Amino acid sequence: MDPRPIGVFDSGLGGLTAVRELARLMPEEDLVYFGDTGRVPYGSRSRDILIKYARQDVAFLRSFRPKAIVVACGTVSTTALEVLQQENDIPIFGVVEPAAHAAAGQTSNGRVGLIGTNATIRSRAYERALAHLSPHTQMTARACPLLVPLVENGRFQMGDQVAEQIVAEYLAPIRAKGVDTLILGCTHYPLLRDVVGHYMGHGVTLVDVGAQCARWVAGQLERDGLRAPSGKEGSHRYFVSDSTEDFAALASIFLEEDVSAGVEQIDITSY
Ligand code: DGL
Repeated sequence: MDPRPIGVFDSGLGGLTAVRELARLMPEEDLVYFGDTGRVPYGSRSRDILIKYARQDVAFLRSFRPKAIVVACGTVSTTALEVLQQENDIPIFGVVEPAAHAAAGQTSNGRVGLIGTNATIRSRAYERALAHLSPHTQMTARACPLLVPLVENGRFQMGDQVAEQIVAEYLAPIRAKGVDTLILGCTHYPLLRDVVGHYMGHGVTLVDVGAQCARWVAGQLERDGLRAPSGKEGSHRYFVSDSTEDFAALASIFLEEDVSAGVEQIDITSY
């Protein structure tokens, strides 16, 4: 048993896809979330800048003495995870391995699509992970840089014509390949799940990398005897690097719970 909190971070709202699943699977765990809203989007940054930001995000979360940190960000998971793991003496979990396992287990026709940020697609981390797990799988990948700003601005509902048009344009070549599984390789994208699912059609399974990572983390903590004692309700704290209002409003919609009282602003550049 280990009562210490779990730290989770992303560039903004996207990591809440992991938080929601962590809270559902492990309601007794204390969670500390950091969304780097002052520096979002991460996906178009260089590797050096991403490593610098990720180190600061981890340093901030480590001030809470967590038992583990979840990199609920596809961009950081694909570009900086190994650096973070080497530098830290607590488990640092990323989204790629869990999501690749899910996709390999899910596909029937061996055709898997991947959408993500520029940095994620450029890294080819999913191709490497899938080649290892399922060598005959063919992957079609596409960077979708406009989707994160759409989500951060709350434009993710069905019926939003701009969101529907951008999603259709990005996904057309992937749908044309006949994929039966689509990895939503950026943790922001599940907020667009209805729009993406509608465009891809019923036969295509969407892999939510944040939720898959949360399931993986729950399994690893259980295996290592690191779960919090049961019988209490875990606390959830949220920190951002820009103003709290917009984050609180959108996070409350996504988490279906009013979190506004629990959101605080910090200066991430001081870490
Ligand atoms: N949600 C993050 C990801 O999974 C970051 C997106 C961004 O800030 O560009 O890649």
